[in-house]
Amino acid sequence: MSAGSKVFKSDLLVGQTALITGGSSGINLGIARRFAEHGANIAIVARNPEKIARACEEIGALNGGRVLGCSVDVRDYPELAEQVQRTVAQFGPLDIVIAGAAGNFLAPAAAMSDNAFAAVVGIDLLGTFNTFRASFAHLHKPGARLLAISAPQATQVMPLQSHACAAKAGVESLVRNLAVEWGGRIGVTVNGISPGCVAGTEGVARLAGNGAMAGKLVSHLPIPRMATVDEMADLALFLVSPLATYMTGQIIALDGGVSLLGGGMRLDG
Ligand code: HXC
Repeated sequence: MSAGSKVFKSDLLVGQTALITGGSSGINLGIARRFAEHGANIAIVARNPEKIARACEEIGALNGGRVLGCSVDVRDYPELAEQVQRTVAQFGPLDIVIAGAAGNFLAPAAAMSDNAFAAVVGIDLLGTFNTFRASFAHLHKPGARLLAISAPQATQVMPLQSHACAAKAGVESLVRNLAVEWGGRIGVTVNGISPGCVAGTEGVARLAGNGAMAGKLVSHLPIPRMATVDEMADLALFLVSPLATYMTGQIIALDGGVSLLGGGMRLDG
């Protein structure tokens, strides 16, 4: 349960390296935290240097300082590939890659600029591809575990989110394609998590606010509350653990049942 003088919750991920895009906040920071608690080396990949520094301080306190901050836009493939190489130079090949960077805002399709649509598709879909593609040469093969963070928008119509719905549908397709292409003798598994409303995240704040609208939204769910970041982190830990080695190409909904309710939900009131 320890590496050097550091005592971990378990030795599950000791000696393993996880690269996490979007890892400076929200669900992805929660996943970084959980993996660090179980001994993993962590590379936090995000855009904002101040948020990255704060996240690295927190993660370093959990895993004995085995953390690296990488400031890069996941839409910039050459720069991202460089940061992946920096991570590998410090920690060795990658055991786990989480493609979690995302962007979203509410906007009617007819009023959205081409650049607005491209920004969200670029961060979510191209960013997921770039993250996995840039990591591929540096993955532990066989054995590496890749996870994408999707959303119910992938399969449900949500007015004012045509960009995010299209992007997340693409992410889920990519998960299935890469699971097939990188399975077999390559031996890499690729799965996804589809979170519903997760309390305290920028996504919920942007789409539903933190007050009455969010409360109204979740009151109709089979499990009528928001999820916690910790619940997402626990699922991610399970998906990269020895308990899930036979799973690939799957998107696991952890959404309180929102995906059972059909599309058309408006988050704008
Ligand atoms: C209309 C908007 C807009 C808005 C931005 N744009 N916000 N258009 N309504 N509210 C337009 C801009 O005018 C610009 O187009 C284009 O989008 C790009 O904006 P930039 O700010 O230049 O781009 P960028 O810096 O790359 O910002 C990306 C972003 C931003 C997505 C727009 O919101 C962001 O960085 N988000 C990251 C954090 C985030 O959103 N987290 C929550 C994720 S939610 P023009 O034509 O003017 O140049 C989530 C939960 C699930 O993931 C969601 C399911 C997908």
